[in-house]
Amino acid sequence: MSIHVNPRRVTAPDIAARKGGAPIVALTSYHAHTAAIADKHCDFLLVGDSLGMVMHGYETTVPVPLELMVMHGRAVVRGSKRALVVVDMPFGTYEESPSMAFRNAARVMKETDCGAVKLEGGRRTAETTRYLVERGIPVMAHIGMTPQSINVLGGFKTQGRSRDQWEAIEEDARLVAEAGAFAVVLEAITAPLAERITKAIPIPTIGIGASAGCDGQILVMEDMLGISPDVPKFVKKFGAIGKAIDDAIADYAAEVRARTFPKAEHTYALKGNEASDKASEQATKKPKTSST
Ligand code: KIV
Repeated sequence: MSIHVNPRRVTAPDIAARKGGAPIVALTSYHAHTAAIADKHCDFLLVGDSLGMVMHGYETTVPVPLELMVMHGRAVVRGSKRALVVVDMPFGTYEESPSMAFRNAARVMKETDCGAVKLEGGRRTAETTRYLVERGIPVMAHIGMTPQSINVLGGFKTQGRSRDQWEAIEEDARLVAEAGAFAVVLEAITAPLAERITKAIPIPTIGIGASAGCDGQILVMEDMLGISPDVPKFVKKFGAIGKAIDDAIADYAAEVRARTFPKAEHTYALKGNEASDKASEQATKKPKTSST
């Protein structure tokens, strides 16, 4: 007899301990089924506020409400078993004061059962990061191109292209590390700056458009799968799933219009009709979908 024990989940300290070691693998995830797949390969899954753009069609992440993060956070925690789940704090839920940030982050932790939250900002969120960590909430920081500040930055622009911007970005990294963040996302910054920061701070750097010199990498899952219509230069498409979905839906539409779908094996027969019963048994044995 064997006893099945669920593997222990990766924790924020586990990720912190990976500084300078084997590269940390991460992806965004917003829903249970893809979380289950990514869980097999990733050290952590980020329920990014990019879900506002990817799942809900907003133009930026600015309008994303906390409720959406909680809802998708729950789905990703339910869908995964092993990876650390990190949930983004959306714009307007943590900037005003450390106590406001604690209230909202505690709600995210309690209602999703995730293992950490992520805050955008360096110097400006360092005090809040310290406040949350001291009260039991692991924080991942996010510096460089911070999409929630798009209205101040004037667009999704690469940061650190000129050396006179480096000091401020390096200082952001140092301050969040000192404040107790367990890792920091470096988004859309030049490769030499990312390498310099990675060498300078004691916590793992997670790059997205910041070079292989970081301690780990993250991408938006839909971007790397080839589902998102427009992706930044730093994305490599590891799949062509958008095309596969398009082809499958085109085939489905054609078969419905030609009345070649559904066939007998996809239908239910009256009791007593053995041949049709067999066919319907086969159909019910098929893996469950959300409509069964
Ligand atoms: O929201 C998000 O997907 C993110 C990643 C781009 C790091 O913050």
